[in-house]
Amino acid sequence: MVQRFQINLLAVTLTAVFSTLAIAQEKVPAGKNANADSQRAGEQAAITRGSIVYGHRCEICHSSESDAQKYGSSMKGIYKRGKFADGSKVNDASIEKWIVNGGKGMPSYKEVLNSGQIRDLIAYIKTL
Ligand code: HEC
Repeated sequence: MVQRFQINLLAVTLTAVFSTLAIAQEKVPAGKNANADSQRAGEQAAITRGSIVYGHRCEICHSSESDAQKYGSSMKGIYKRGKFADGSKVNDASIEKWIVNGGKGMPSYKEVLNSGQIRDLIAYIKTL
């Protein structure tokens, strides 16, 4: 009886050791794929953070869900549209300029948002 218990215990211990080794192996980055995965996860986190900033700072004047004009124009599909209301080109740098400088009826966010928050915001606006 005691012997059988010891054998079982040995089996359980060995199983635990081998599965720990297996898990440790899985954690070793598998070259490019693992890098791409973690990059994607990082990008997703930036988008999530950006959506929160957008909800706090921009949504009140710029719709993200419909084409409806609020106080400012809708941000939905702005990258696909490719042009701002004044005809100038939509890209990361020009969106950043709008955020930093503001406009007629739009506040400047220069003193409000840091460069990381602006980057996150742009990552999010791209998904709209
Ligand atoms: C108080 C309302 C208000 C808030 C808040 C606001 N905006 Fe604006 N935004 C405007 C108005 C009004 C314009 C048009 C200004 C102009 O033509 O000079 C504008 C213009 C823009 C434009 C150019 C759009 C185009 O097609 O010409 C972008 C991009 C933009 N805002 C992004 C943002 C982002 C991002 C935020 C949040 C950080 C934000 N805005 C917050 C009112 C606002």
